[in-house]
Amino acid sequence: MNARKVPRLALFPLTAEISQKGHLLIGGCDVVELAEEFGTPLYLFDEITLRHKCREFKDEFGKYYPDTLVIYASKAFLNRALAFVFKEEGLGLDVVSGGELSIAHSVDFPLGKVYFHGNNKTPEELNLALDWGVGRIVVDNFYELELLNKLVKERRMRQDILLRLTPAVDPHTHQYTTTGTIESKFGFPLATGQAEEAVRQALSASNLNLLGFHFHLGSPVSEIQPYELAIELVLRFAQEMGRKFGFNLSEFDIGGGFAVPYTMDSKVPTIAEYARAVTGKLNSLVSELGLGRPRLIIEPGRAIVGQVGVALYKVGAIKEIPGIKKYVCVDGGISDNIRPALYGAKYEALVANKASKAEREVVTIAGKLCQSGDILVRDINLGSVQPGDIIAIPVCGAYCIPMSSNYNALPRPAIVMVKEGQARLIRRRETYQDLMNLDLI
Ligand code: LLP
Repeated sequence: MNARKVPRLALFPLTAEISQKGHLLIGGCDVVELAEEFGTPLYLFDEITLRHKCREFKDEFGKYYPDTLVIYASKAFLNRALAFVFKEEGLGLDVVSGGELSIAHSVDFPLGKVYFHGNNKTPEELNLALDWGVGRIVVDNFYELELLNKLVKERRMRQDILLRLTPAVDPHTHQYTTTGTIESKFGFPLATGQAEEAVRQALSASNLNLLGFHFHLGSPVSEIQPYELAIELVLRFAQEMGRKFGFNLSEFDIGGGFAVPYTMDSKVPTIAEYARAVTGKLNSLVSELGLGRPRLIIEPGRAIVGQVGVALYKVGAIKEIPGIKKYVCVDGGISDNIRPALYGAKYEALVANKASKAEREVVTIAGKLCQSGDILVRDINLGSVQPGDIIAIPVCGAYCIPMSSNYNALPRPAIVMVKEGQARLIRRRETYQDLMNLDLI
């Protein structure tokens, strides 16, 4: 476990440095200049870090368990430019909607490496997945099992599927992002006998080919033990299904949820530590249970893209309530990052145009949205801040943009990919006209 205090700059992308001017540089670009050129709020994605994280997952898991497929969890953030990078890096994709699937399709992503998740896929979405030859459909419930078999049968096809199982393991994370416990809306519970019934039905479904099992415990999961426990429960179940029905586990998908440090005092396992523990457990259990070696599927989202993204805001109003609080107000907020308000998520920040200055006063960084809960970072020790300064918040690559909204009719930010001193727009800023384009009077 990484128990060291993380220096603030280490939370930023791997290419982060501070220039002689005292400006934050990411991907060789001065972020203060980028804020000027592209406007704020602005999200930066660092291509070097993105590719590095993809390779780190492949290398660390592949080292101990060569037959591992890393599929990126699109929900953390997907757009066409990112999908293109994942395709180049040879990853697969976890998608949960026709929309995510369409983004993948639009860049000719190899759809055989796409796993379609979700607890309520619509017939339209399933048909789209079948039209485009999605590799695996991860069936969540009995309704879907029957519906999918019917749709596939109408086409006289066969579809490879996994079953999503609920192992009843508490990952000790936020209630809203806990999925592996028995009361979860996701999956077939092991403990109620529904998982066994699902296996029986899947094996007898004429047009479905059951390849294996999937579970996802929650996100982020900062402990390793819940994974070990769930792996053991599901593998023992697989052995039992082998005995009862002759089922052979050829794929084993342990989901995502790998945590990342958001703040300097975060204590979370490294990718290498997750990999060693998970594959260690898997290797010893498959031998013990005589299971053969299933392909291992992992679905990291946050741990690939989290550190890659940085949010930049411009400071406007500064409000001091003497002896009580000092607010530094920025030009975005919960409309582009709802995580602090929704989960109490904690972030660090840096004054990007005074990055080498020592921290000297405690302030609260507030957004500009009409809600008191619109606070991005509470009580952070920052260098002295003035209107016009640029605040950079690290670890904003995951679950900020995909959960953004147009609350207060704020246009969504632009997104820029940086690499070797070059910056390219990968999503343009929304305009006021965009906000009205879908309205009819
Ligand atoms: N696989 C499945 C089936 C999932 O449901 C998820 C996340 C992942 C993989 C990827 O988890 P990750 O590796 O990114 O932790 N909005 C929340 C996170 C919700 C995660 C939902 N499922 C947040 O902002 O923290």
